[in-house]
Amino acid sequence: MPDGRHVPVLLEEAMAALAIKVNGTYVDATFGRGGHSHKILERLGPRGRLVALDRDPAAQAAAAAIRDQRFVFRRAWFSELPELLDAEGIGTIDGVLLDLGVSSPQIDDPARGFALRADGPLDMRMDPTRGQSAAEWLASVTERELREVIADYGEERFAQQIARAIVAARAHEPIQRTGQLAAIVAKAIGTRGRRDRSQDPATRTFQALRIHVNQELTELSLALERILPRLAIGGRLAIISFHSLEDRPVKQFLRRHAQAYGGDARLARLAIATRTLPVPPLKLIGRAISPADAEMAANPRSRSAHLRVAERTEGALAGW
Ligand SMILES: C[S@@+](CC[C@H](N)C(=O)[O-])C[C@H]1O[C@@H](n2cnc3c(N)ncnc32)[C@H](O)[C@@H]1O
Repeated sequence: MPDGRHVPVLLEEAMAALAIKVNGTYVDATFGRGGHSHKILERLGPRGRLVALDRDPAAQAAAAAIRDQRFVFRRAWFSELPELLDAEGIGTIDGVLLDLGVSSPQIDDPARGFALRADGPLDMRMDPTRGQSAAEWLASVTERELREVIADYGEERFAQQIARAIVAARAHEPIQRTGQLAAIVAKAIGTRGRRDRSQDPATRTFQALRIHVNQELTELSLALERILPRLAIGGRLAIISFHSLEDRPVKQFLRRHAQAYGGDARLARLAIATRTLPVPPLKLIGRAISPADAEMAANPRSRSAHLRVAERTEGALAGW
């Protein structure tokens, strides 16, 4: 049985990254079970505010237990943050935290369909009220698109064989259970060249489907672009990612907005020559932060985590 717990990752580091102002307005864009939100509330003074969001109805239920006038929870996708802030009458914010990916309660509950080792319905949606479940998508996707998704989002070198096996299997019966999918993938790969034998053969396929079904990477890119204009000068952006597919767009986004002319060397050279180099809208705060050894030992989920931090400057956004 899932116990509904989620151990927050890089908790102290994320608080330091947000550099919380006692009476500031903050956003926890990935509430989960509220580990980071609770800490933010501890550091906020009586006039501080925390807006938390999550697209998972189970997170909403957990947030309902927080009775605090400074706190408001909205169930939404984080790319919708500007509309939520408008609805709350909030202009700019002093900091936002994105702790990406799935939470432990989501993975641990077989009924959500993320679990590899426990059989359940093949759903995988963080927000089961929108879009297609993994089972629905698998029922109609072309072999080619399936191969691309498994290769791109799972970084799986047997994507071709797996896609072919799934398409062949669904011709006999619909693929509706996680156990069914895991067995099809294991059979398709066989014992061929598994580098990490402790990893289930279907791990990469499950990751790929999860990222696709939840539009995780599009959501991330869209959210970063849409959140930046709402950061107050001096406001902090703190992002925790768990694999390179997430970390890469974050790193690129931050670099692009922390360099004059988005890093376009030719424009920057011209500007230096004419002394018109503009201030970029973001300033990077340190390098990527990994958890301390003790945290990694205590919480295996934290091992691949990276925290990246940036601060909004006075630099204009227009034309960026
Ligand atoms: C790693 S967990 C966050 C855990 C949280 N920091 C805590 O300490 O409990 C990620 C959460 O973000 C949510 N999430 C992921 N992508 C989202 C999106 N695009 N919009 C809203 N919520 C999202 C998931 O539903 C999940 O609950």
